[in-house]
Amino acid sequence: MAYDRFGRNLHYLRISLTDRCNLRCVYCMPEDIKFMPHAALMQDNEILRLARIFARLGVDKIRLTGGEPTVRPGVVELVRGLRAIPGIREITMTTNGILLSRLAKPLAEAGLDRVNVSLDTLHAAKFRRLTRWGDIEDVLDGIQAAEEAELQPVKLNAVVVRGYNEADVVDMARLTLDHPWQVRFIEMMPFAGATDFQRLMLVTAEQMKARIEEALGPLEPVDGGRLDGEARLYRLPGARGQIGFIASVTQPFCAACTRLRLTADGHLRLCLLREDEVDILTPLRQGASDEDLRRLIQQAVWRKPWGHGLAQGEAPQDRTMSQIGG
Ligand code: 5AD
Ligand code: SF4
Repeated sequence: MAYDRFGRNLHYLRISLTDRCNLRCVYCMPEDIKFMPHAALMQDNEILRLARIFARLGVDKIRLTGGEPTVRPGVVELVRGLRAIPGIREITMTTNGILLSRLAKPLAEAGLDRVNVSLDTLHAAKFRRLTRWGDIEDVLDGIQAAEEAELQPVKLNAVVVRGYNEADVVDMARLTLDHPWQVRFIEMMPFAGATDFQRLMLVTAEQMKARIEEALGPLEPVDGGRLDGEARLYRLPGARGQIGFIASVTQPFCAACTRLRLTADGHLRLCLLREDEVDILTPLRQGASDEDLRRLIQQAVWRKPWGHGLAQGEAPQDRTMSQIGG
């Protein structure tokens, strides 16, 4: 098992498959972003080899992220390869849903268990403004395809941005009345590229919850208000689905962190919000053995930082969200 020096069991690996994306969300990347050269990205066989090493260290859950993971060529075959690794119990994906109407079924057949689809609003014009390039119909079709492919339960992720969609939390929350979905509202985190914007436009989970309760009545805590992963879950009375709040900025959940992150260029990122990374891909390409890589990973895991420093005004300046994968 991979434990860090604080006794946290790191069994959940997020793998960013690419820093590219077919959208340009305002809180995620500048419109004219430069992507990494293809040669810098991990190749399929490199991802599979590293995933096998992580699985032997105790990782049992993998989430594929981006950028946008579905724009990576061969993503279906990659899922099939990951599925075949002993010890991997769950494979999920965070996607913007644009390509899901085409890919949901093949991905499910290849062994993907679930998807989290990013959707910040139900209004077409606001969706376009937030994503700069997106057509909301593509995402809605994608969500339907995910349900049909039984990639369940579908989770929807909404980043809430002041001046863009803070009023839309009510419509999004209302979705849970008729759908067995988990709609999760996320506090915007500051990253390189748009840090000031992200600080100034923060809506806190408390503010989101107050707005929902004002419109729809009191929310009932699920499981006595325990954290489910990173989300605190609630339900509208009688609803089929659940509402979650991810308060990464105002109520960090670092003490319960079980995550490791592999960036698209093969660096082990020890905390989403800290610049601390260990390059794994370069030694791999220079001929390191599985045992060398295992030791490198274990040493890195050991010095995983306790938590982030947003409250002290420290935000990562080295990478945008799309290069880390959330
Ligand atoms: N803060 C919080 N979440 C973010 N995401 C992208 N940028 C940010 C940010 N600055 C989310 C997306 C998606 C996932 C890939 O990360 O909305 O759900
Ligand atoms: Fe693409 Fe997701 Fe970033 Fe939006 S948040 S630009 S969909 S990676």
